[in-house]
Amino acid sequence: MSGDIIIPRAGVIGWPVAHSRSPKLHGFWLRQYGIAGRYDRLPVPPEDLARFMAALPKEPGFRGINVTLPHKVAVLPFLAEIDSVARRIGAANTIVVREDGSLWGSNTDAFGFIESLKADAPAGWTAAAGPVALLGAGGAARGVIVALLDEGAPQIRVINRSREKAEALAAEFGPRLQAVAWDERAAALGGAGLLVNTTSLGMQGQPPLEIALDDLPATALVSDIVYTPLETDLLARARARGNPVVDGLGMLLHQGRPGFEAWFGRAPEVGPELRAAVLAD
Ligand code: ATR
Repeated sequence: MSGDIIIPRAGVIGWPVAHSRSPKLHGFWLRQYGIAGRYDRLPVPPEDLARFMAALPKEPGFRGINVTLPHKVAVLPFLAEIDSVARRIGAANTIVVREDGSLWGSNTDAFGFIESLKADAPAGWTAAAGPVALLGAGGAARGVIVALLDEGAPQIRVINRSREKAEALAAEFGPRLQAVAWDERAAALGGAGLLVNTTSLGMQGQPPLEIALDDLPATALVSDIVYTPLETDLLARARARGNPVVDGLGMLLHQGRPGFEAWFGRAPEVGPELRAAVLAD
């Protein structure tokens, strides 16, 4: 075997996975830092997930994977250990193959969300300063909720079309969450320090997000996890009335940092060139 060089590898599993931006993100960092490594798109249909997860530790060089739809919850039974953030979100998006071949899982969506706000919000902005109006109650909302609770948000108003899902989140995450009916969404913006959209509304090919912003304080930060288009209608309207805004691309870029560091041994940075490269098609 002497002479064989095994390069570190990682990738993203999903089904479908063709549209994942993660290969661009990690590929950019590998090139930027001159690391001889690989990051691949790994299409894994649900019926192959168990086989894939069993084989992963045996693949030469494989340091770990990102996990995207529809596997973020389904991978949990294959992990020997998960961190507390993954446990609270109830899903894993970053897996590391440990030295002994066992699998460790984390969820970096909460980190990615809060880091993108810290990087892109006006200086001095903090989640602890006021109530949050949060649209949506799906998987993406869970990551944002965990992030905001950990940052000290005093109140999170969970506004969702299916009220029972907002109520279930409030029951699970405790008294700082408050379920709000979808019809009450405009009034729920009163006094908020942050408005965040975690629904798919406003995404290319999806219905528009209809919400009157009149009650939102002009100082409130507005963020949208949708990044196609980069400037959603929500962000454009918020910007036009003077609110600071943070687009959804930052969350995608920052959530990739912990995985890259674990697999390739270098803490990567998020900058304007990376944003441009990941956006380019
Ligand atoms: P994700 O994992 O991206 O959060 P999801 O779990 O399917 O995806 O959640 C999608 C979110 O967008 C939900 O909050 C959903 O509301 P429901 O819980 O009522 O389904 C919201 N959503 C999707 N389409 C919507 C629409 N037309 N009007 C209002 N909310 C919508």
